[in-house]
Amino acid sequence: MRFSVVLGTRPEIVKMSPIVRELQRRGLDFALVHTGQHYSYEMDRVFFRDLELPEPTINLEVGSGAHGAQTGKMLAGLERFFQESKPDVVLVQGDTNTVLAGALAAVKLGILVGHVEAGLRSFDRTMPEEINRVMADHVSDLLFAPTEVSAGNLRAEGLPEERIHVTGNTIVDAVRENLEIAAGKGDTLGALGLREGGYILTTLHRQENVDSRDRLANILVGLERVGTETGLEIIWPMHPRAKKNLETFGLELPSRVRAVNPLGFLEFLQVEGAAALALTDSGGVQEESCILGVPCVTLRDNTERPETVKVGANVVVGTDPSRIVEGVRSMLPRRGGWACPLGESGAGGRIVDICLGRTNRG
Ligand code: UD1
Ligand code: UDP
Repeated sequence: MRFSVVLGTRPEIVKMSPIVRELQRRGLDFALVHTGQHYSYEMDRVFFRDLELPEPTINLEVGSGAHGAQTGKMLAGLERFFQESKPDVVLVQGDTNTVLAGALAAVKLGILVGHVEAGLRSFDRTMPEEINRVMADHVSDLLFAPTEVSAGNLRAEGLPEERIHVTGNTIVDAVRENLEIAAGKGDTLGALGLREGGYILTTLHRQENVDSRDRLANILVGLERVGTETGLEIIWPMHPRAKKNLETFGLELPSRVRAVNPLGFLEFLQVEGAAALALTDSGGVQEESCILGVPCVTLRDNTERPETVKVGANVVVGTDPSRIVEGVRSMLPRRGGWACPLGESGAGGRIVDICLGRTNRG
């Protein structure tokens, strides 16, 4: 029984880590297949170090590129690897180009495909991630939906009940297990000159936000007003895509906003957990802040994580500066008190069990 765990970007490394740990704990045979979609040290290697993951079995080193070119390179490389290594099951996670390539390469070779974090929907087909999720779900044999909401989305698209398994989200264990480790790993707040509850954390990288001069400029105005109104510093570990586009568009950061390099996972968890609020367009940060009891304001027009909004942990405001300020005003006084809607611990183990049950039955 051989698993291939496919990953390529930082959120996939984080969210696959509980599954990799589980495979290791049980002594199961697995290959860790890295597409190389993310490759800069702080977007890639640092997560292997922080999460103590084994070296990838192979790194296809596809790097950056236009969607088609990037996905095409991955598809060819993954197909070759699967043909040679003959896995029984291929696991992909989330909604990146890596996921689409992994699922498509495997299903065409007749290999069982498991999609971790299946069924999330923003219902916004202009997002590349929405296309990737829908495609991956519709070719996968095992759909690991984190919640009943995501399982409901799959049912509504006519996907058969026997493929759908509600497992909880692996991010729950990735956060809880690493929070303790993070606490013991040096004083990140001190090193950054931050004080618990005395700052707002922001992250941005979505194509629809950072590739659009207008939306990015609007967000910066929003951040400036938030800084002025709250008197809080806004710390921004900056994704390379945002950095590149700020430079290309010639946009300046407002005075209370401080950009830093992307943080390693353990450092980021410390900064996230002690923030007064998260202002973000990240999927993972919406989930993690909900788990950590930190209020979140989402700088998007929609979310595929409505569970976080329903429990009162998150509000979706888009990129209009006044709506950003209003969102911060309403969320800043909240601090935890909601139940985590992303499932119980142990999603990684449940996913491995289901794969084993399925392949044992043939
Ligand atoms: C990708 C995913 C997105 C996910 C995000 C996680 C797709 C379509 N997008 O977006 O769903 O939320 O990863 O962070 O799969 N770059 C570097 N170093 C790197 C990686 C990227 O400098 O290690 C820069 C390059 O200029 C590159 C740009 O960032 O062109 C975008 O990278 P890419 O992987 O295409 O998309 P992300 O925005 O990272
Ligand atoms: N993250 C990190 N350092 C940072 C920013 C994010 O470790 O400087 C982690 C974060 O904890 C989360 C993941 O990266 O687990 C989210 O990745 P990202 O926002 O790039 O992608 P998304 O979740 O939107 O797909």
